[in-house]
Amino acid sequence: MPGHSSTPVPSQRAYDGTMPLKITGAVSPELLDLPWSIPLETWPEDTLAALPRGISRHVVRFVRFSGRVLAVKETVGPMAQREFTMLKELGKMGAPCVVPFAVVDGRVDAVGEPLPAALVTEHLQFSLPYRALFSQALRDDTMDRLIDALAVLLVRLHLLGFYWGDVSLSNALFRRDAEAFSAYLVDAETGDIHAHLTEGQRRYDIDLARTNIIGEMFDLQAAEELDDSVDPLLLGDRIEERYKELWAMLTGKETFTDNVRYHLAERVKALNELGFDVAELDMTQTEDGRELSIRPKVVDAGHHSRRLLRLTGLDVQENQARRLLNDLDEFRVVTAREDDEVLAAHEWLDRNFEPTVRAVPRDFRRKLEPAQVYHEVLDHRWFLAKKKPNVTMPEAAASYVKNVLPARPDEEAVLGQEIGALPDAESEAPTETRAIRAWQSFPRTTKPAPKD
Ligand SMILES: Nc1ncnc2c1ncn2[C@@H]1O[C@H](COP(=O)(O)OP(=O)(O)O)[C@@H](O)[C@H]1O
Ligand SMILES: [Mg+2]
Repeated sequence: MPGHSSTPVPSQRAYDGTMPLKITGAVSPELLDLPWSIPLETWPEDTLAALPRGISRHVVRFVRFSGRVLAVKETVGPMAQREFTMLKELGKMGAPCVVPFAVVDGRVDAVGEPLPAALVTEHLQFSLPYRALFSQALRDDTMDRLIDALAVLLVRLHLLGFYWGDVSLSNALFRRDAEAFSAYLVDAETGDIHAHLTEGQRRYDIDLARTNIIGEMFDLQAAEELDDSVDPLLLGDRIEERYKELWAMLTGKETFTDNVRYHLAERVKALNELGFDVAELDMTQTEDGRELSIRPKVVDAGHHSRRLLRLTGLDVQENQARRLLNDLDEFRVVTAREDDEVLAAHEWLDRNFEPTVRAVPRDFRRKLEPAQVYHEVLDHRWFLAKKKPNVTMPEAAASYVKNVLPARPDEEAVLGQEIGALPDAESEAPTETRAIRAWQSFPRTTKPAPKD
């Protein structure tokens, strides 16, 4: 073509304005209303929710959608589809991961040029990327607790046969879970599901976790966000140690020659305390019958949360459940209701849990999840009790709401804060997330009729 560059000029293309969008996943016609014909980077502010997000290779934005928040990630079609399918599979197996919503493919811009596909996931409520936790003043051991949570996540994923391929703090999200954190998988792009993982596959994930964490810590150090006392190499070692300890506890073989029943009960109890139930156990006896080996074969995470759910209908995280169950046990002793666990649980909900979380004014409900509030009020009561005996829950709740909660940041949606120093930080003005589903729907179970 003489005198012309060979690059087609978009405006000269014959484009009929149609966009053959292909949506897989959610049955939700409103999804078509999102501005798919413009690059995600330039989506209008009124569609976006300014929540913190971790460092990523792809463009990721949060959007408001029918009273909830969705995370949209631009990537190539087959990758989006693959990640969607994998997250779905993992979800079915009970893995802690973000919930996939849809894949949107076939996007074109106003002049018919193709745009990347989008993987849409549900925003994980009350979750934070690790860098957001750093920008808040937190206890010194926060980093240790995040690493421990990541080790639990990695073990759980490996038990399910998921090889992650890119373990890092940036590829996980964290939620407060009583004194600890629980970690969720957010980026499954490099992963694979197998029937069982080989030693080598697990080893590779652990090595990668170590390398990535050390790299992430050096980045924080360079940004002067890391306390001088934190040693990146030690944190790298920590993930490996924690992983190995937990893996051995959950899958290791033990051999006994006497008092087998006792040892068996002890092993199950120890696993329960770690938050796991033993669904299947392998027992092998030696030929002469003198030795018996036991090895847990299938373990399910969520020992305490399942028990609390069964008793109260409250669906909370593992350590929160452990704390709430301890309080429930104490309530049963105090009210002499040790005989009927279910009835006592209903009374505990009515008399302790619900009034406590309802004491939090509406304006503060974005700060923490209800179960986390309850956990913190229990801590606060303990703190008050050091000065004055017999502090009741209503007194503790009132003091907590007055003296502690106002200083806490909103975590249902940390607003107006960009994590990871992305260049377009200013483009997302602070906005508010409308729905507070965790609070609106905090469980009401069918209760026994009131006695009077
Ligand atoms: N469903 C979600 N809920 C909350 N945050 C999310 C969600 N999806 C993505 N994010 C945020 O976006 C970041 C980048 O997502 P990720 O899948 O890791 O992208 P990339 O493949 O480009 O690394 C994550 O670290 C996380 O902070
Ligand atoms: Mg990532």
